[in-house]
Amino acid sequence: MRKTTIICALGLAVVALAALNVAAGDHAYVGADKCKMCHKVQYNSWLETTHAKALDAAKASTDPAFEAKCLGCHATNSDESLAGVQCEACHGGGADFKKMSIMKDKDAAVANGLVIPTQATCDGCHKDNGHSKVVVLADNLDNRAAIHEHKAAE
Ligand code: HEC
Ligand code: HEC
Ligand code: HEC
Ligand code: HEC
Repeated sequence: MRKTTIICALGLAVVALAALNVAAGDHAYVGADKCKMCHKVQYNSWLETTHAKALDAAKASTDPAFEAKCLGCHATNSDESLAGVQCEACHGGGADFKKMSIMKDKDAAVANGLVIPTQATCDGCHKDNGHSKVVVLADNLDNRAAIHEHKAAE
């Protein structure tokens, strides 16, 4: 009897958690500064990339002229508070995975919104539309000037 109650309670908890996950499908952004303290190597080299400076480039542009829709690819969010292609544009909104207890467990981090970039991540902005060219992720994994240094280089 007791065992059945516990199993039922567990079952309900799993259902409740699953529901929460769906509700939290959108993971809020925290900004690159929040990633910096634990990922200095990646942060410092990312700062030098054109990704980091992409909002400035778009704003300085006259052809095409800057307008709000440029933010879709030249910024991380739709207002301008997260300028450029920040960590979270490629790795997902960090609000739910940035805690050490979650970050150190890759599966938990992924369950909480961490994205290990795939070709589809790049395709979101690198289209073949006369403005942006397609990039091949596999050819750019070691392209530190475009992505960032990796931990192995520490
Ligand atoms: C409190 C420290 C901490 C913060 C803050 C933090 N991380 Fe992490 N992160 C870690 C640790 C620890 C690991 C696992 C070991 C490693 O790869 O360094 C990790 C791993 C990762 C990985 C590699 C996952 C894998 O195994 O392939 C990515 C990508 C990542 N973090 C991105 C981010 C991003 C983006 C942010 C900001 C939104 C962030 N982290 C904030 C500590 C942190
Ligand atoms: C669909 C995503 C997307 C949108 C929307 C977009 N861009 Fe871009 N833009 C890119 C990509 C990706 C590149 C990198 C160049 C390439 O792929 O050839 C780029 C490159 C540029 C560059 C060249 C930067 C340099 O350093 O030479 C400028 C300037 C620019 N965009 C301005 C704009 C402006 C202004 C807007 C809005 C009118 C805009 N972009 C909208 C994705 C986009
Ligand atoms: C949020 C949109 C966005 C995403 C996601 C994105 N990029 Fe970009 N990327 C840009 C923009 C915008 C530029 C042009 C920046 C500029 O020149 O100002 C760019 C520039 C580049 C460049 C040219 C760098 C240079 O200066 O020579 C490479 C290479 C590149 N991206 C590779 C990638 C790869 C690989 C991925 C996937 C892991 C990726 N990008 C994901 C928007 C994006
Ligand atoms: C343009 C997309 C892009 C941006 C922006 C980006 N990353 Fe990455 N990141 C990648 C790719 C691609 C990998 C390699 C994934 C793989 O090995 O499959 C990676 C790997 C990582 C890793 C694990 C490997 C390592 O380097 O140790 C960490 C940690 C990481 N990124 C953190 C960050 C942080 C922090 C930022 C912002 C300061 C950031 N990334 C910005 C695309 C990006």
